[in-house]
Amino acid sequence: MYILAIDQGTTSTRAIVFDADGAIVALDQREHRQSFPRPGWVEHDPVEIWHNVQAVSTRALDQAGLSRADVAAIGITNQRETTILWDAATGEPVHPAIVWQDTRTDALIRTLAGDAGPDRFRDRCGLPLATYFAAPKVVWLLDNVPGLRARAEAGEIRFGTVDTWLIEKLTGRHVTDVTNASRTMLMNLTTLDWDDELLAAFGIPRVMLPEIGSSSYVYGEAKTMLHGVPVASALGDQQAALFGQACFSPGEAKCTYGTGSFLLLNTGTRPVSSERGLVTTVGYRIGDADPVYALEGSIAITGSLVQWLRDNLGLIASAPEINELAATVEDNGGCYIVPAFAGLFAPHWRPDARGVITGLTGYVTKGHLARAALEATAWQVKDVVDAMMAEAAVPLETLKVDGGMTASDLLMAFQADVLDVPVVRPTVAETTALGAAYAAGLAVGFWPDTDTLRAKWHVDRRWEPSMPADQRDRGHALWLRAVERSFGWAD
Ligand code: G3P
Repeated sequence: MYILAIDQGTTSTRAIVFDADGAIVALDQREHRQSFPRPGWVEHDPVEIWHNVQAVSTRALDQAGLSRADVAAIGITNQRETTILWDAATGEPVHPAIVWQDTRTDALIRTLAGDAGPDRFRDRCGLPLATYFAAPKVVWLLDNVPGLRARAEAGEIRFGTVDTWLIEKLTGRHVTDVTNASRTMLMNLTTLDWDDELLAAFGIPRVMLPEIGSSSYVYGEAKTMLHGVPVASALGDQQAALFGQACFSPGEAKCTYGTGSFLLLNTGTRPVSSERGLVTTVGYRIGDADPVYALEGSIAITGSLVQWLRDNLGLIASAPEINELAATVEDNGGCYIVPAFAGLFAPHWRPDARGVITGLTGYVTKGHLARAALEATAWQVKDVVDAMMAEAAVPLETLKVDGGMTASDLLMAFQADVLDVPVVRPTVAETTALGAAYAAGLAVGFWPDTDTLRAKWHVDRRWEPSMPADQRDRGHALWLRAVERSFGWAD
């Protein structure tokens, strides 16, 4: 028997079939359209995403020569915070999905923050007020789509993040998991239920919200594809990667390098609040067990900068070429890029920031720009790690990494250098999908416990730091000066 994991990400949807060893048997992937209707706006078509889920799942199973009888469970993991509203009766979306990177709610956020500031709701939901999270996106839709608020109040409209959208399409149930719910700003981190005070503050009717379930439990049987197979997990993609990296003990951390990068530290069964710009979130919950919380450093733009250099500037023809170009020079030539395309997230939370390139001279070539782009990822992760270490008060021994950008040897070596900590990548690089598969497998008894899963984690590659401290400190000081230059470019 096998587990099918569906990883619905920001730029593409993947279906991966795992065997009982946690090894990949088949993988299929399809990109979906990114719409940018105005500066700062980012939308997806939820129907296209659902079609892609069906297509990649079918193709992955075909590749492996498997049928639904071979699949013990389906696990779901997804881009978080992306917000979909649909008609409860027809299941049709009433608007394109508003993607987590979208900044259209900037003014609304400032109004909500008022005199209390961005931490107004942090005690209850663990999150600062930011365009990133789902609740402000729901408010924008209720305020801007004609007639929608009245329909929502009448129970005719449903809200969901992408997990909820897909679970309803698969099983017919309107339900989310606790990790995705923890990204909405509407869930109380202690009760793990929708919080009346938060709902009132945002003006969001409770009737439109899904039920909240565990990350690892049987949501229902699939009805629209793979008939009868249990849908047995749902986790936000960053939490799924934490699970797939077997970070099951407090103090264990991972960083996933995708369109953005997200560092999560397991803090155990009590939420730890942050004063340094990290967010408190649910890491996972297995069945009825106590939830496990995490501190997260969310970085909006890392891999997206490489895509931007490819698509908007034509500097490279494909994303991996960034490495060859960066390797044509010895260093960044004094150049720093701060990719604040969606403002800056952790640890700064500056919606007014916009991207800057500093240190340009006639000496700088496209090789230096490529290197500065890769280095921007590593410096942003360092800023998050510094905040986390100051707060968690436990030294980071190694950083477990995963995601597309870990294929860049140059970036990973530089990451180890600037953190002054070894960086380790596991044998299964698809940790996000693996985490969803693990959680689904646990729910149906395919695997017995987390110790069994931990035993499957093996090192593939390890990068040791070698940069002299004075060089690291000099580079970091220049990076921080560049970060300051990015502030204050948007109202
Ligand atoms: O919070 C956003 C995050 O879940 C997006 O992840 O990998 O789809 O860019 P990814």
